Amino acid sequence: MWSSIVVLLCFVSDGLSLGQQRVISFTDGPLQLAGNGVATLILSSTDFPGVIRAGQDLAADFGKITGKNLTIAQISTDQTSTTGPAIIAGTLGKSALIDSLVSAGKIDISQIQGQWESFVTQIVTSPVSGVASALVIAGSDKRGTIYGIYDISEQIGVSPWYWFADVPSTQQTNIFALDIHKTQGPPSVKYRGIFLNDEQPALTNWVKEKYGGVGYVSGFYARVFELLLRLRANYLWPTMWDSMFALDDTKNQPLADTYGIVMGTSHTEPLMRSTKEQTKYVSGSWDWTSNKANIIKFLTDGANRAKPYESLYTMGMRGSGDTASSTLTAASLADVVSEQQKILTSVIGNVSTIPQMWCLYKEVGGYYQKGLKVPDDITLLWSDDNSGNMQRLPIPSEVGRVGGAGVYYHFDYVGDPRNYKWINTIAPQKTWEQMHMTYNRNAREIWVVNVGDLKPLEIPINHFLDMAYNMTLFTSPNSTDTWLSQFAAMQFGAAVSDQVASLIDTYSHLAARRKYELLDSTIFSVINYNEADTVLAEWHTLVSSAQAIYDSLPAASQPAFFQLVLHPAKAGSILYDLYVSTAKNNLYAKQGRVSSTTYGTMATTAFQADKDLASTYHKLLGGKWNHMMDQTHIGYTSWQQPSTNNMPAQSTPAKSTNGAAGVFVDGGSTTLALPSISLYGPASRWIDIYSKGSSATSFTISSDPWVKASPASGQLTPPGLTSDQRVNITIDWSTAPTSTTTSKIIVTAGGTDFTVTIPLSNTALPANFTGFVESDKTISIEPEHWTSVTSTSKASYGVIPNYGRSLSGVTLFPVTISSQTPLSSPKLSYNIYVFTATTASITLYLGPSLNTGPSRPLTYAISIDDAAPTNAQYVPITDLGTLPSTWTQGVERQGYDHTTKHDVTVGAHVLNLWALEPGVVFQKIVADLGGVRTSYLGPPESMRV
Ligand SMILES: *[C@@H]1O[C@H](CO)[C@@H](O)[C@H](O)[C@H]1NC(C)=O
Ligand SMILES: *[C@@H]1O[C@H](CO)[C@@H](O)[C@H](O)[C@H]1NC(C)=O
Ligand SMILES: *[C@@H]1O[C@H](CO)[C@@H](O)[C@H](O)[C@H]1NC(C)=O
Ligand SMILES: *[C@@H]1O[C@H](CO)[C@@H](O)[C@H](O)[C@H]1NC(C)=O
Ligand SMILES: *[C@@H]1O[C@H](CO)[C@@H](O)[C@H](O)[C@H]1NC(C)=O
Repeated sequence: MWSSIVVLLCFVSDGLSLGQQRVISFTDGPLQLAGNGVATLILSSTDFPGVIRAGQDLAADFGKITGKNLTIAQISTDQTSTTGPAIIAGTLGKSALIDSLVSAGKIDISQIQGQWESFVTQIVTSPVSGVASALVIAGSDKRGTIYGIYDISEQIGVSPWYWFADVPSTQQTNIFALDIHKTQGPPSVKYRGIFLNDEQPALTNWVKEKYGGVGYVSGFYARVFELLLRLRANYLWPTMWDSMFALDDTKNQPLADTYGIVMGTSHTEPLMRSTKEQTKYVSGSWDWTSNKANIIKFLTDGANRAKPYESLYTMGMRGSGDTASSTLTAASLADVVSEQQKILTSVIGNVSTIPQMWCLYKEVGGYYQKGLKVPDDITLLWSDDNSGNMQRLPIPSEVGRVGGAGVYYHFDYVGDPRNYKWINTIAPQKTWEQMHMTYNRNAREIWVVNVGDLKPLEIPINHFLDMAYNMTLFTSPNSTDTWLSQFAAMQFGAAVSDQVASLIDTYSHLAARRKYELLDSTIFSVINYNEADTVLAEWHTLVSSAQAIYDSLPAASQPAFFQLVLHPAKAGSILYDLYVSTAKNNLYAKQGRVSSTTYGTMATTAFQADKDLASTYHKLLGGKWNHMMDQTHIGYTSWQQPSTNNMPAQSTPAKSTNGAAGVFVDGGSTTLALPSISLYGPASRWIDIYSKGSSATSFTISSDPWVKASPASGQLTPPGLTSDQRVNITIDWSTAPTSTTTSKIIVTAGGTDFTVTIPLSNTALPANFTGFVESDKTISIEPEHWTSVTSTSKASYGVIPNYGRSLSGVTLFPVTISSQTPLSSPKLSYNIYVFTATTASITLYLGPSLNTGPSRPLTYAISIDDAAPTNAQYVPITDLGTLPSTWTQGVERQGYDHTTKHDVTVGAHVLNLWALEPGVVFQKIVADLGGVRTSYLGPPESMRV
């Protein structure tokens, strides 16, 4: 499979389209469709209206690219008066012309006939009298043809996001069809869709402004349906916070069907009726135990209303308004489902032919675990934890179910531990890891993802739906890089695709470390490991690189680039500016530093910049996306959003009572003891010398000759940032004592002497050692930097690049393997060199993934040297529908930390690690030999010699 991905990458540099086999060229080909005149699009008037409608889009898409729309000829027979080059599109059994090409043996449909959503595309000579040659698109069914049509749209250069993200089309003079017989489909996942949810304020305010203030009307949904089809999706859960899809605009439901979108309703809305309808139209309460007859009537009306249209029925029941019911039991739920199936049988017919889904969301899973039998023809829709970690996937006993399984996933959420609904925080590698697992565990019937307001989650939506359409293009953990380049090429052209892909990748990596709503000034350390400054510098680099690309793009591409790349980079960066400045303001105020005020001003500036950036977004393209950034995101104090953004509290420096200057050191020691420094750790430590008053002060530093201070003397000149001086301390190891010593550094500032100490360790390693070396009583390892790795015929480790919080993730493949057992199972080994004999606490930073079955909890094993491995099960087993006690921390920190203790002696050792289940992802290994300090990302990786 990998080789075919490489080939597809080459296609990208040749033109456009996301991983699809190309049938279009702009330079050469046996059939010219545009340039020398323009082709006629021949459609059958007896075909599905949705096919004809998509054909009209294709005709206009040619216009976007060449300035000339395709001419459309609708025929009702297998004959046409058209002459010249043509595109013939139609569905088997619905187009007399397509059927005649089949019977004449001119197109081969053996691979697609009777298949779901499949199509063939090929050039046919003399398809019909008068036409010398035509590009024929034949679909196995309605959406097969529609996807075949949009495949051409995409290949000529019309992005699915041309409207929803304003991606412009590159003009072409000529368009040719290639002599390729393309057969495509069926898709990997049968029902692939999105859930528009949590839609207040942004989407709702926008819809109100753009669609006449009458709710979610068909004008809006037509845009969404078209987008979904262009993205090769087929399924939608409509907005439901305060809307009734079928009633707000009675055109909505039939229009979806005309377009070819299968409508559903969310997990809490059985039989195609919305939550709001439950409140408005059930006579009596939404309670099965006391009001069964009225509820049956209500649900029957829903089935009757949906009957004419392609629908996927949500089954089961929850309490009212997305809550658990206080009266439902496993037995009464079984009765609910049985009555619902009776309704479907009486209204529509044989239930085994009606798509039905039952979502085991939150408490619903509990009934299943208690033994509730779900009829075999209902798809079990497993759910994530609302934060992108699947809580359950099919286990062997469930794989044979007729209705199969699917998943309900989240890119946006309102609820515990905290909402995330402002801008994109999704790491595509994490989505890949979970969806790749999901697919391989046979949950392939339905994939639906909560996408909030739709914008600004364009990228994760596109990625998710592409995986759902063809998972065979996503078998490698490297597939995310490939996909990002293809996505970037489609939106911004091949010339910048690698740079843009890397920007998106970096952005997602930085943003996914922690949800914006969970950030505050205490998360990243301004004291240890230079963490906050390092992270802030990463954001600043991202913004300047994104700005440089933005400036280099043609004006027509800039609005799309702003929406998809520059805005999120700036928005994230501003928030980090805000919180790091606030952290410094707060800390420095306590120290009486005058610069505290300046950091307070910087925080205020960032807070204002956040407002200004939202306003820039809102003014874009004459206000096209006004309100899309209405979501509050600063100043959360509980899971629920604050009503307005609230500026984090700033402090005022205390008036100095003890001198004009002060000293603060790296690591924050109150006794001014710097963290130790060695040949094998960070090359420098820092000392902050700061003013506590308004007049200029000088400082000087004296120390042992091998301790170098830079600068060793200078002026503190208040106010502003020049009232502080950060001094770098480095060591001249060639003259330093060859042992472990402590040096004194005397800082004289504002008339006071401050004594700073720094422990030095100048101990040589055995010359033959290779591996990670302790420094500062810490060894920190990025798992992909193993010294050696073993594999078996059944399993091996792979690296998921850019997964997680620091460098990458290391996990076992394939994900279908059985439980592993050390010592024979694949092992990761790391040479380490220890200077401190102690009981080490070794903490594994693992991915946030959860156990996905009741009997195979995520577990790893660890040992030092030849000691017996210690098994570590780091996610407790819980009942279905219940989350582990450690879950909040796992979600907030985007991973689980698990510690085991190991005695170590001075010298070289080998740390061995085994993942015992697929789904265990190693993000970082930190051995604490007594020196690990507080931070969010953990100590930076140790030196490797
Ligand atoms: C192409 O068709 C679209 C949609 O019908 C229409 O708005 C547009 O004006 C047409 N363009 C040309 C060049 O005819
Ligand atoms: C998925 O990709 C593979 C490899 O390119 C291809 O053979 C198959 O036809 C594709 N399926 C779909 C539905 O696109
Ligand atoms: C992923 O990419 C890396 C770096 O390009 C390469 O070394 C590795 O072999 C690739 N892995 C797979 C599974 O293709
Ligand atoms: C401090 O030292 C480090 C490591 O040698 C160096 O990278 C950095 O530029 C220095 N900073 C200053 C302000 O001298
Ligand atoms: C390294 O050298 C030491 C003796 O200096 C020896 O005991 C040890 O086995 C050597 N290790 C390796 C990996 O060669």
